[in-house]
Amino acid sequence: MKVIVVKDYTELSKKAAFFVAEEIKKKPDLVLGLATGSTPLGMYRELVKLFQNGEVDFSRVITFNLDEYVGLSPEDKNSYHYYMFENFFKHINIPPENIHIPNGIADDIEEECRRYDEEILKYERIDLQILGIGINGHIGFNEPGDELITSTHVTELSEETRKANSKFFESPDEVPRFAITMGLGTIMKARKILLLASGKEKAKIIFEFLGEESVSTKVPASFLLIHPDVTCIIDEKAAQLIKGQG
Ligand code: GLP
Repeated sequence: MKVIVVKDYTELSKKAAFFVAEEIKKKPDLVLGLATGSTPLGMYRELVKLFQNGEVDFSRVITFNLDEYVGLSPEDKNSYHYYMFENFFKHINIPPENIHIPNGIADDIEEECRRYDEEILKYERIDLQILGIGINGHIGFNEPGDELITSTHVTELSEETRKANSKFFESPDEVPRFAITMGLGTIMKARKILLLASGKEKAKIIFEFLGEESVSTKVPASFLLIHPDVTCIIDEKAAQLIKGQG
């Protein structure tokens, strides 16, 4: 695992965007796994700038989002559909048919999960997966537990996650209880993974996860330790408990 510690969130966002743009230059039809949350917002802004400057072309890029809340429609301001279009897709030249996000209001949610995996399998696997990390070590919405599920599935969000994500909602009660998430197997099959972490509230989990000597379902991100190609870009605040890396 490669760990890059950068000064601050601005630098993290620029470095992450540059990383993604380089992968697209190498493979214009890159299958790109995308994350939401506050961490990748700056990266999306920087990628939009690179696009506007003619430095990256998304016309052949295929995207798959990690997750979506169950019960929120694409028009709902708190849905990940809405987030992705507002912050990224509507500013770049990606064809709508190349965009994949689980449908949180599908009539048959189990069927939607199967359909999502089938779509991913059409491309064999994800080339580059972007990840954030939850304060409890979740990736996507793969929450700590006794077992982790490999394929796309419905998951019940932990209270910790609902509390952390309530920053986007008017009240904590509005945070949905369930979400569709790509499974850990799909994430681990990605050729390359880029994990981003910013801010002091991530320092503890970054310290714990990078210090793990074994993988554990209690810290889903620990599985990344056995992936052959993971880069972590972490800002100084998130890295404050780790030493001698960079
Ligand atoms: C959310 C998302 C994750 C994200 C994480 C961290 O629950 N499902 O994909 O990485 O939490 O979010 P943030 O970047 O806002 O800290």
